[in-house]
Amino acid sequence: MSQEREMWKSRIGLILATAGNAIGLGNFLRFPVQAAQNGGGAFMLPYLVALLFLGIPLMWCEWAMGRFGGSKGHGTTPGIFNHLWKNPVSKYLGVFGVLISFGVGVYYIYIMSWTLAYSFFSLTGQYAGIETREAMGAFLKDFQGVSGESWLSVSSLSYLFYLLSLGLVLYILSKGVVKGLERLAKYGMPLLFIFGAILVVRVFTLGTPDPTMPERSIHAGLGFLWNPDFAALKEPSVWLAAAGQVFFTLSVGFGAIQTYASYIKKKDDVALNGLSTASTNTFAEIILGGSIAIPVAVAFFGIEGTTQIAQGGSFDLGFQTLPLIFMDIPGGAFFGTLWFFLLFVAGITSSVAIVQPFMAFLQDEFNLSRGKSTLITGATLFILGQPVIFFLKYGFLDEMDFWLGTFGVVLFAVIEVIVFVWIFGPKNAWAEITEGADIKVPKFYFYILTYITPLFLMGLLGFWLYDQGWQVIMLKNVSKEALPYAIGLRTMLVLMFLGLAWGVYHGFSKNKRKESL
Ligand code: PHE
Repeated sequence: MSQEREMWKSRIGLILATAGNAIGLGNFLRFPVQAAQNGGGAFMLPYLVALLFLGIPLMWCEWAMGRFGGSKGHGTTPGIFNHLWKNPVSKYLGVFGVLISFGVGVYYIYIMSWTLAYSFFSLTGQYAGIETREAMGAFLKDFQGVSGESWLSVSSLSYLFYLLSLGLVLYILSKGVVKGLERLAKYGMPLLFIFGAILVVRVFTLGTPDPTMPERSIHAGLGFLWNPDFAALKEPSVWLAAAGQVFFTLSVGFGAIQTYASYIKKKDDVALNGLSTASTNTFAEIILGGSIAIPVAVAFFGIEGTTQIAQGGSFDLGFQTLPLIFMDIPGGAFFGTLWFFLLFVAGITSSVAIVQPFMAFLQDEFNLSRGKSTLITGATLFILGQPVIFFLKYGFLDEMDFWLGTFGVVLFAVIEVIVFVWIFGPKNAWAEITEGADIKVPKFYFYILTYITPLFLMGLLGFWLYDQGWQVIMLKNVSKEALPYAIGLRTMLVLMFLGLAWGVYHGFSKNKRKESL
C-alpha cells in the first residue's frame, strides 16, 4: 500500500477539480445531440428522473466509496471492493472500474484533440469561406482522414494534435493531484464558465436570424428543449438514452469519482461534495450546454434540420454546424475560437480525471512512483489509441464508446450498488454517506438507494438485453466491412480486462505478503 497518498490542498480546489471532472465534452457535445435525437422536450423528463433516482444517489455512493477506500490506501474499485466485500471475486469485479474509465480515456483524448485543432483553425481562419453544411462536413472528414480511399484513417494534422493533447494530459498527470489536477482546475474552470457565459449571451441575442422564417429562432430552439412531451415517456429507448447521458455527464459508473474522492480526509464531507458536483455539472449541462448548440442550430436550420444533423452522429452538431453559423455573424472567428477552446478546457479537465484512476491503480497497488506510472500510462494510452485513430472510419471509436461509455457504465453501476448497498449493507452504506456530512441528506434517499436505484438499473439493463442486446451481441447491427474491426475491438476489451485482472492477482498477493510481514 502506498504510504504517501496525496490530498487535495483546499476545498475550493477540490470543488473545482470535481466539477472539471464531470463537466466535459459530454455536456457540450453529447448532451445536445442526445436531446435532439430523442425529441428535445421529450428527452428532458426522463433525463431529470434519471438524474434524481440514478445520478445523484450513485454520485453519493461513489464519493462515499472513494473516501472509504482512500482511508485504506486505495483509490480504485479493485482495492475498495476488496474491503467492502471479503470475497475473492470482489476485486475482480472492481477491475471494471479501472477498465471503463481508462478505456474511455483512450478515445476521449482523441476527440479532445479535435477541439484543440479546431480552436486553432478558428483562430487562423482555416475554415473561413466554407459556406455549406456539406462542405463543413467534408472539412471535418478530411481532417480526421476518413474521406480518402486509403485503408487507414489518418491525416498528419489530426495525428499531430493527438500527440500534443496526449502529451499535455500526461504532463498534468505527472505533476500529481495538487500541482497537476488541482492547479489545472483552478485556472480552467473559471475560464470555462466565463467563455460559456459569453457564448450564451451571444446566442440569446441572435433572435430570428432570417425574418422570413419566423419558426427558426432562438426562442423556438429553447422551446424545442423545454416544452415537455409526455407522450414520449412511453418510449423505452428514450429512457435508455437519458440514463446513458446522465451517467456519462456526471462521470458516474466509470470508477472515476471514487479516485478523486479518495484524496480527501477520512472526516471530510461527501454528501455536500457529491451534491455540488452533480448540481454544478447539471447547471453546465442544461443551462450552458443546452443554451448553445441546440438553440443556435434551430435558429439557423429549424427543428427538423437540427434533428437530422443530430442523427448524423455525436459530433456533427459541434464540429459542423456551429463553425458555419459563427461565420455568419460579426466577430464569428472570435466566437468560434471561444467555442472550441471552451470544449478543449472542458475536455482536458475531464481527460485527466478519466485517466487518473489508472495512475492511482499503479501507484496504490504496485507502489510505483508517479514518474513510472505516468510512463506506463502514456505508453498504454498511446498503443491502445492507435486502432481508435486508424480505424475511425470503420466505427471503431463508436463501438468502443458503446461498450464502455453506454453499456459498461450501466453494468458497472449495477455492480457497485450491489456491492456497496446490498452486500456491504444499506445501513453501513448510509452511514458512510452521511458521516461528516455538511448537509442533511433526506432520509427518503435511504430507500431510493436501497430499492429504487438498483431496481431501476437492473430494469434498464434487462430491457436493453431484451430489446436489442442479442442483436448487438451477435454483431447483427454491424456492416460486413466493419465486422473484423468490431471483433477486434471486443478482443481488445477482453484482453484489457484480463491484463488488469492479472495485475490485480499479482499486485494483491504481493500486498498481502507485505501486510502480513
Ligand atoms: N463527465 C465527463 C463528460 O461529461 C466524462 C467523464 C467520464 C469524465 C468519466 C471523467 C470520468 O464529458
